[in-house]
Amino acid sequence: MTTKNKIFSIAISLSAAFFSAQNNTVRTFNLDLKESPVPVKIQPTMYGIFFEDINFAADGGLYAELIKNRSFEFDEPFTGWKQPNTKTLSPNLDSGFLTIYSDPAKTNKNYARITVLNNKNYILENEGFRGIGLHQGEQYDFSFDLENVSGNIAAVNASLVDENGKEISSVSTLIKGKGWQKYTAVFKAPKTVEKAKLRITFTGNGIVNMDMISLFPQDTWKGRKGGLRKDLVQKLYDLQPGFLRFPGGCIVEGRTLAERYQWKKTIGNVADREYLINKWSTGFPHRLTPDYGQSFGLGFFEYFQLSEDLGAEPVPILSCGIACQFNTAELVKMENLDPYVQDALDLIEFANGDSGTKWGRIRTEMGHPTPFNLKFIGVGNEQWGADYIEHYKVFEKAIHAKYPDIKIISGSGPSPDGEFFEYGWKELKQLNAQIVDEHYYNSPEWFMKNAGRYDHYDRSGPKVFAGEYAAQSVGVVKPDNKNNWLTALSEAAFMTGLERNADVVYMTSYAPLFAHADGWQWTPDLIWFNNLKSYATPNYYVQKLFSNNKGTDVLKIESNGKAVSGQEKLYATAVKDAKNKEIIIKIVNADTQAKTVNIKPGTLKMGEKITKILLSAPQLSTENSFDAEPIKPKEENSETKNGEISTEIPANSLVVLKVKVI
Ligand code: AHR
Repeated sequence: MTTKNKIFSIAISLSAAFFSAQNNTVRTFNLDLKESPVPVKIQPTMYGIFFEDINFAADGGLYAELIKNRSFEFDEPFTGWKQPNTKTLSPNLDSGFLTIYSDPAKTNKNYARITVLNNKNYILENEGFRGIGLHQGEQYDFSFDLENVSGNIAAVNASLVDENGKEISSVSTLIKGKGWQKYTAVFKAPKTVEKAKLRITFTGNGIVNMDMISLFPQDTWKGRKGGLRKDLVQKLYDLQPGFLRFPGGCIVEGRTLAERYQWKKTIGNVADREYLINKWSTGFPHRLTPDYGQSFGLGFFEYFQLSEDLGAEPVPILSCGIACQFNTAELVKMENLDPYVQDALDLIEFANGDSGTKWGRIRTEMGHPTPFNLKFIGVGNEQWGADYIEHYKVFEKAIHAKYPDIKIISGSGPSPDGEFFEYGWKELKQLNAQIVDEHYYNSPEWFMKNAGRYDHYDRSGPKVFAGEYAAQSVGVVKPDNKNNWLTALSEAAFMTGLERNADVVYMTSYAPLFAHADGWQWTPDLIWFNNLKSYATPNYYVQKLFSNNKGTDVLKIESNGKAVSGQEKLYATAVKDAKNKEIIIKIVNADTQAKTVNIKPGTLKMGEKITKILLSAPQLSTENSFDAEPIKPKEENSETKNGEISTEIPANSLVVLKVKVI
């Protein structure tokens, strides 16, 4: 090495050492708290839930039915069913066979005709949704509709079998008479099995028709018969969501108009709800799920009821007469739009009308005489372009003519910027739209960089519904996306900006919500589950910390007179909770070095006790799983000094500080 090179190399080492010494020094930030000059209220709807039936979120997930294709309505009507001893579908003299009969006059058209020729051999099995999950000691309601066509089937024998095909529980139901009847029995699970099957055999040889073969845990949310999976609803409840958006998502729009979500077909008697293929069954070639249908057992009545259970505002989103623009983009002509608009008007009557109205009566007959007090409705999900604006205008006029108090949510397309987004916003602003839905699936870096996104939004324009967002660790719709700490941390940084701008941002929700570990199409997702368990992602805990600590009024928190929005990777928001008389400060440090913050309360007076909630992880790549949740909020207490807070915000962490106002 020449002398010149040596000197150069020493200089590089020295400067590296200097910078590293500098980096190791804990930087101190002085943050000033003050009341906003113009009071800014945080809407009760600030943090909510986006529910879409994607990733087996409804059938196979939240809707606790354990039998897949219980009424043989799938396009491939044998989906989920097997006859292990029947070699062909044609008459099999050694056992029996099943054929599908159909009654076109009915909404639930199909039923199974089972011809039992040799009951010693004939077996019918259902595989459930990637198996049937059973919990030791729990009871399961088994039911089916049966017509004893030939009159000589004496009993239906059903059993639950484990992964090895071993029977673990059985019930036998005597058949009475010939006509269609509902039969019920109760299984008790002697052990926990993740992937059990239902096996049916018969006593006697003959012909029966069967429909609605169903199995439900008794231990559902609120113990409702045919209800929702308790552990999953509990996770939603724990979020204390301000709203529940349903039923999506692109599922609202459908791949074609015929496949759009039609709420009227999802209410009334569960057995009469018309089956529809789920759009996500073919959503992505790399995650095909041909056995993904919609029984609508979780339909609009149940969504309203769930909203009520959660204390969340119901936010239904309806088709505006445009099928998913990523699929066919099929468009209803303006002159044919009336039925779509009528669906929206009727939905408001279904939710809010008294029992003297047509749709209010149907709600009453379903067991809910008191109105659901609907305040919001979404027109279209993720539409874009001039056709959407034209359709929106018709809906807006009709809805507000009849229901002037209902707040309408309109959409700005699938991206947070670009031509369609700009166009949508420009038009909607001119139309004095009330709330505009924005969607962003983007990199963690994007989320951190955009923490100030709403700082400069027009304060007199429409309010924002950040209706779908999630940081993507690899890329949008990439199957390798992870719910890791980096994504959650970047969302937390971004959310400080949502909260700081609560005068513009009225509603926000992470998307998608649920994913079945064996049946998903889209990742990342907020809550993962299998047939037995569920776990909360780091992203879930970020949502929970913000939502559980949303407060009522925005406070200013500044460093050198500026909002804390990424200076040295520090992000902050502060609120007052008028009900609990608390100041709540949320700080995200996305740096690899810890930082000390000294928070001066200005004219506000803080109590002594500080509750500090910390969410952090060993690595940015750390994830939670079914086995462990290494990323979970941890709480500790400390005290203010001289009426100020001085505390450390560890590297790559979200910290929530709570202190009483005195
Ligand atoms: O959340 C998944 C999908 O992403 C939604 O259905 C759609 O609105 C968006 O494109």
